[in-house]
Amino acid sequence: MEVLSVASEAYPLIKTGGLADVAGALPAALAPRGVTMRTLVPGYPAVLDKLKGGRQVAEIADFWGGPARLLAGRAGGLDIIAIEAAHLYDRPGNPYMGPDGWDWPDNWKRFSALSWVASELALGLVDGYRPQVLHCHDWQAGLTPAYIKFGPSDRIKTVMTVHNIAFKGSFGSDIFPQLRLPAHAYGLGGVEYYGGVSFLKSGLECADVVTTVSPNYADEIRTPAFGMGLEGLLNGRADTVFGILNGIDIDTWDPATDPALKQNYIAATVHQRRVNKQALVERFGLDGDEGPLFCVVSRLTGQKGMDLLIQVLDGLVAMGGRLCVLGSGEPHLEEGFRQATARHPGKVSLVTGYDEPLSHLMQGGADAILIPSRFEPCGLTQLYGLRYGCVPVVSRIGGLADTIVDANPAALSAGVATGFQHDADSSHALYEAIRKAIHMFADEKTWRKIQRRGMKSDVSWAASAELYADLYAGLIGVKRDVDQ
Ligand code: ADP
Ligand code: GLC
Repeated sequence: MEVLSVASEAYPLIKTGGLADVAGALPAALAPRGVTMRTLVPGYPAVLDKLKGGRQVAEIADFWGGPARLLAGRAGGLDIIAIEAAHLYDRPGNPYMGPDGWDWPDNWKRFSALSWVASELALGLVDGYRPQVLHCHDWQAGLTPAYIKFGPSDRIKTVMTVHNIAFKGSFGSDIFPQLRLPAHAYGLGGVEYYGGVSFLKSGLECADVVTTVSPNYADEIRTPAFGMGLEGLLNGRADTVFGILNGIDIDTWDPATDPALKQNYIAATVHQRRVNKQALVERFGLDGDEGPLFCVVSRLTGQKGMDLLIQVLDGLVAMGGRLCVLGSGEPHLEEGFRQATARHPGKVSLVTGYDEPLSHLMQGGADAILIPSRFEPCGLTQLYGLRYGCVPVVSRIGGLADTIVDANPAALSAGVATGFQHDADSSHALYEAIRKAIHMFADEKTWRKIQRRGMKSDVSWAASAELYADLYAGLIGVKRDVDQ
């Protein structure tokens, strides 16, 4: 089966969040399951730098206001097709916004162009390459299903995966004439959304199948509380909306071999993590006492519940905890953590910015990771936490609820607890969960059990890659056992 994954970011080429991890890991997870997956990505400088020796497979003279070339080759372990189009993508840094922190004003162009190329590839733009399924990730690839539905052949199958329904890719109706879609695509069954254009709505409307990244979030987005206005559409096609849980790349994220750790370890030697904890404490300038060390590796946003955490920080410190934070995001939240750092020197510390190796060291050294999200389609940092024995403390929503087993008395006595859950959107509930974690940390035997149980959880792609392979096979009508 030949599948083209259409993504605006893919690790290790370019990453701002979990979408990149997923797009980067899927091809290798699917390869042993009869799926050949190539990834179509915009040719940002970071991508073209890594695509040395890419060969030109197509040239497009008039590509949304300038020339473009498609370059195919291997980069970062992925089989990619990159769109080299300097007028759209030759901008260093973050793929979505300029150095001023504002979205690029022509993002609608940059990502309708990406979506359009995907459909052209499926229609035969490149000799000898005909993907059977287009797997579109988030709003940036959301127009692809519309280009197929309203194009010359609607037989090509499309899968739209929602990683975050909050980002709808909404623009004014004035862009519509420039999207290269027929006039009737501007309507309820197409790209129109409340008098404008929404790339995500368009994908959800036009794709053959909609998936999201955890079963629980698949249910949640069909309710007003989480659907963000798209629940009606999703309910209308409920039989083709599926939740497939994300996995993680267990080779990149392996505490036994991770080069970012000071000390490698396995479940049986989990006590050796203290070497990493010491390194972390030094790196963050924290006091070196024996109490529990919490960490946060996150975009600092309201989605992630960071305002709730800031509210309970004094309490966390008063109970004997310390906290190291790696992230960046909304200025008032960065400021909130800065103020907490000033109030609690040696107990709370913030590193702003994006630092992949440091994020590994934090998972390998902190005792627990806090993820108090208000909504969380899947969440990956709790999965890294499980794998690294960094006990997740999470809100009971989305993929967090699907992946963490709360350390309640029943789960503890059954030996299945892997972390702590609390009600979402409540600083009081978060405080109570932290209190419970600190209390349990003092009981070393129980804490080790929770850590080891987490480290033994299956967080790999194995089960979910099977589900994606079955999904593609069902769409194109092949029997997998025969096809492989
Ligand atoms: P989201 O995609 O909503 O941001 P996820 O939990 O799915 O949340 O994925 C976040 C990914 O980004 C993880 O791989 C996490 O380790 C990483 N990450 C987030 N913030 C940072 C940061 N400041 N530095 C390094 N990695 C980060
Ligand atoms: C999004 C979601 C996150 C998910 C990630 C990868 O960024 O916010 O929950 O893990 O996509 O699917």
